[in-house]
Amino acid sequence: MNYIRLRKNYLSVENLSVQKLVKKYKTPFYCYSLSQLKDNFFTFRDCFKTVKPIICFSIKSNSNLTLLKELRKIGSGADVVSIGELLKATKAGINPKKIVFSGVGKTEEEIRIAIRKGVLLINIESESEASLINKISKQLSKKVSVGVRLNPNVIGKTNKKISTGGKDEKFGLVYNDFINLCKKIKKMKNLNLRGLSVHIGSQITSIVPFKKVLSVINKVIKKTNINFEFIDLGGGIGISYSKNEKKINLKQYCKMVAKFLKNKNSRIIFEPGRFIVGNTAILIAKIIYIKRSNNKNFIILDAGMNNLLRPALYDAQHSIVAIKKRGKFLGKNIKFVGPICESTDKFSTYRTFSQIKEGDCVGITNVGAYGMSLSSNYNTRPIVAEVLVNGSTHKIIRKRQSLENLVNN
Ligand SMILES: Cc1ncc(COP(=O)(O)O)c(C=O)c1O
Repeated sequence: MNYIRLRKNYLSVENLSVQKLVKKYKTPFYCYSLSQLKDNFFTFRDCFKTVKPIICFSIKSNSNLTLLKELRKIGSGADVVSIGELLKATKAGINPKKIVFSGVGKTEEEIRIAIRKGVLLINIESESEASLINKISKQLSKKVSVGVRLNPNVIGKTNKKISTGGKDEKFGLVYNDFINLCKKIKKMKNLNLRGLSVHIGSQITSIVPFKKVLSVINKVIKKTNINFEFIDLGGGIGISYSKNEKKINLKQYCKMVAKFLKNKNSRIIFEPGRFIVGNTAILIAKIIYIKRSNNKNFIILDAGMNNLLRPALYDAQHSIVAIKKRGKFLGKNIKFVGPICESTDKFSTYRTFSQIKEGDCVGITNVGAYGMSLSSNYNTRPIVAEVLVNGSTHKIIRKRQSLENLVNN
């Protein structure tokens, strides 16, 4: 179900028209649908109900505290990659026994805090990291639950910049190194090897790479003869950013995982980010100017790459819709751009677009994942507000950064 959609030519979030919201909140701002968030989580959980995974929402995709609390209430755990994410997860009330800690560069401070909090697994990515965790665990007189991240040398068909499963990437350990490290960890007195983790990248819309991953894991298990209590399959499940984009067959993925689990005594962990939050938000922006230059219509928005980096970083396409649809814009070559002093500060281009004028607002769609979490103060612009809609009600879930705060450091 889509909770953010055009209703009688008005862009709406649940029961509220965006036109009403822009009268209340200063643009640009992120606007989320709570029902969409819950719906996505339940869709994911229900698709995989036969394998009963632990669902650890990947906080890097969106770390808004209110959203994390909502996810915790409906049963989510968390996948974290930094001390900040870990502390936010626990502040949101997520049980540490449902938190996995990933990342290639965990510092001593981060490891110490993760051990003290008692997270479910610290997913190790190198031999040096294993030794450090063992040393700290010994100092703290603990035996710590760890996983090891496998680099399966499987390339998920996705944007090169968000692909992590190839053997030349920095992530995880390739087959032989993985096996050797597992043997070493088994001998480390303060580590308890309980998990194997993988994550081959993001925005993957075919189940084929996931099938290959499962087959590599099977090979690894056979070779090591280790009964991993937890098999953490990471995230990566893609969403449709446009109507013609292919949708992944989650039911089929579940069947594959169920088959994989046969004769194993393991629990599956998933770390979905984008699937849970991707389509829950729009970035609402105002048109500051319409500039005609060299046969182009530049629609200059008050939102830029500091608010939504994905187009500049990954050439990602996010559809843009007028908050009130009015027939076709007569101009050609309509380029939505931001105000930032970088030529990569551009959003989508259209041949035709709904009639718009300076002062109108538009919504940049599907920005719930890696939208706000990748935003910055670049060009010394404030971090914008986040608004949550629930049915016919709305509230601020992150205040817009004040100019005073912005200039004080
Ligand atoms: C280790 C790990 N787990 C999970 C995710 C979440 O991925 P996605 O948002 O594509 O589900 C990422 C993101 O890249 C990741 O690096």
